Amino acid sequence: MLTRRSLLQGAFASAALVGLAKQGWGQQAWQTNPFTMGIASGSPDSSSVVLWTRLDPQALEAAGVTDKAVDVVWQLAHDEGFTKIAAKGIVSAQPALGHSVHAEVNGLEPARQYFYRFLVGEAVTSVGRTRTFPRADAAVDRLRLSYASCQRWGDGYYSAYHHMSKEDLDFVFFLGDYIYEYPASIPPIRETTGGWVNTLQDYRARYALHKSDLNLQAAHAAFPWMMIWDDHEVQNDYAGEIQGRSGAAVTDFPARRLAAYQAYYENMPVRRASFDKLLTSQSKQVRLFDRIAYGRLANLFTLDDRQYRDRQVCNADNAFGSGMVEADKCEVWKDPKRTLLGFEQETWLKNEFAGSKAQWNIIAQQTLFGQRASDIKGTEKFWNDGWDGYTAARQRMIGSIVDTKLTNPIMLGGDVHDNWVGHIKADYNDLASATIGAEFCGTSITTKSGAKQAQLNQSLVRNPHFIFANTEYRGYGTVDFTQKGVTTTLKGMKDITDPKSDSLTLAKFFVANGKSDIQTL
Ligand SMILES: [Fe+2]
Repeated sequence: MLTRRSLLQGAFASAALVGLAKQGWGQQAWQTNPFTMGIASGSPDSSSVVLWTRLDPQALEAAGVTDKAVDVVWQLAHDEGFTKIAAKGIVSAQPALGHSVHAEVNGLEPARQYFYRFLVGEAVTSVGRTRTFPRADAAVDRLRLSYASCQRWGDGYYSAYHHMSKEDLDFVFFLGDYIYEYPASIPPIRETTGGWVNTLQDYRARYALHKSDLNLQAAHAAFPWMMIWDDHEVQNDYAGEIQGRSGAAVTDFPARRLAAYQAYYENMPVRRASFDKLLTSQSKQVRLFDRIAYGRLANLFTLDDRQYRDRQVCNADNAFGSGMVEADKCEVWKDPKRTLLGFEQETWLKNEFAGSKAQWNIIAQQTLFGQRASDIKGTEKFWNDGWDGYTAARQRMIGSIVDTKLTNPIMLGGDVHDNWVGHIKADYNDLASATIGAEFCGTSITTKSGAKQAQLNQSLVRNPHFIFANTEYRGYGTVDFTQKGVTTTLKGMKDITDPKSDSLTLAKFFVANGKSDIQTL
């Protein structure tokens, strides 16, 4: 059993101390811990998983190897004591990729727990735990996952991960805003080093800052993660190759996006194939959207609504970024030529829906799906950065679900920094229209919400397809899928200024197999 203590122990253990012979792990001497960013695993399927770490820049500098490749050993074992090694190898951590290490381990058994660690010189990481998926044709009784998003460093501590890492999960869905490109939070709960993030070096440093958090490291070490990104991994409210609005004027946004995407690869347990064309200068794009089976129980769809989207419309003065817009006065608002996912991804998704025989269809995407009208000074307005700003694209997604008779769609999202739970409607303007699925849009891990609960309560009355909204707590959600139904539990942190904050259960919901009505438990 992997203990909490072994997950959180200092990463700079000496190989000799854990009973490993020095020879064979390289001769690199370290003055400081080379593994300050912890370890992670991710992108699992039924026969493989990605193991990740990255060497600390200060440790590399102190060792005089900043510009050199460094060989890092990885081991994957059936047991926490590493007596039954399942696979091992050496990855050359390259300066051109920020001394990141990605070991894509193949030939593994399905639905199996494994343990892993990295070694370089006399340094060894703590032990991580990971898990492969069941085979696509396997009968599976249960899938339990947590979903999380939006973890601005300076806004609070990652106590949510302190609690998440103790849950019994098959994997974690991270839905975007792993870093923020912003400088210090006001007021700062903790110090954000580095100011505005613009260059590859800036992005690398910001990831290193986030990765230094021990609660985040524990959640990565405890479970494999499935990753998608949102805007802040690049810039607030960017759209495709169009800049958003934050910080100093951007001189070459496509170059900045490219640097940000590279840094994302370097710091996440993601597959090389998704990023290969970007990293070899053959393309400026990354293929993140995907579908993977979790046995016959579930299909997991991971979408990318940032990289291919058309820009937001009808901002005052045609400004970049997002705004609250009077849709009735915006001629292009409903233009069917506008897209959020890009037409290639839309077509792919409809085909995947059509072919899905899974009992649950879990759609992991960035933001709030359901319509959310706001009355501002007597005028109905919508936020133009979310699905509300792309209503024709949303209706096409709804059409894809209806036309393909997609079974039990469950949508997960983030971005809005509040918890929202609602019914997916065939027509959001007609409450009597069919309910075709359920949506759970999560709060943030730390990022502040600008809203007041009274505003959300008004919004629930105004938008009755939503049945729950809460802005008071940062946290995460856990979703438990069985053949009978899906149970979602929303966890809130009592004090975001405390890294070991107590948690509370905000609400619990159930959706029965074959029904879309959400019951409050
Ligand atoms: Fe966010």
